[in-house]
Amino acid sequence: MKKSVFITLGVIAASTLVANCSTITAPFRDADPRWADFKTWTKVTELEPSTGNPTGFLGGVHQGDEGYRDVYVNDIAKEVLLGGAPYNYPAGSVIVKEQFASKADWEAGRKPGHTISVKATASDELSKDNWVWADSYKGSAGESAFCSGCHSIAAKDDFVFTHGDFLAKEAAKAN
Ligand code: HEC
Repeated sequence: MKKSVFITLGVIAASTLVANCSTITAPFRDADPRWADFKTWTKVTELEPSTGNPTGFLGGVHQGDEGYRDVYVNDIAKEVLLGGAPYNYPAGSVIVKEQFASKADWEAGRKPGHTISVKATASDELSKDNWVWADSYKGSAGESAFCSGCHSIAAKDDFVFTHGDFLAKEAAKAN
């Protein structure tokens, strides 16, 4: 008698689990097509990944000072990003930061995390409202006070820290 109660409970528990899992995992979602193939884009950190805290503004985000970070840019954003100030990105610009917890993880390509900035609308006035943000490869881009708040430090460079002048400075440091 007792045994069958346990079995029944077990079956209920198992089926609840299955039901929950299927609502979580189905349907499988692909990455947003605006950045799904970012690995084929221009990697602006080709010579040197970003590590440490070059701007002094990193806090604990983007895997912090120990992290190793690569930045990829799509064709729409490339010219502006690799150019010089003043920066104002066209609509459709997408910048992906791929970050690893350590140099060893970076070398092994282990457990990458992704943050993505998307310029949704263009305007002559630089504004955080032109940008949407995603905090993972399969995440969705939307407004984020967390992302735009800190990136506002780079407001005059259209909310992007890693640009031509920044990269030139980093390269000079490395040499
Ligand atoms: C506490 C500040 C801070 C927060 C919060 C933050 N970032 Fe950043 N982010 C930076 C800094 C500083 C860099 C510059 C490069 C570096 O130091 O590696 C950067 C770089 C980037 C880059 C590469 C292009 C660029 O702007 O240099 C992307 C993409 C990015 N962040 C997206 C995001 C997204 C998406 C979020 C929210 C999920 C976010 N960031 C939250 C500070 C921040």
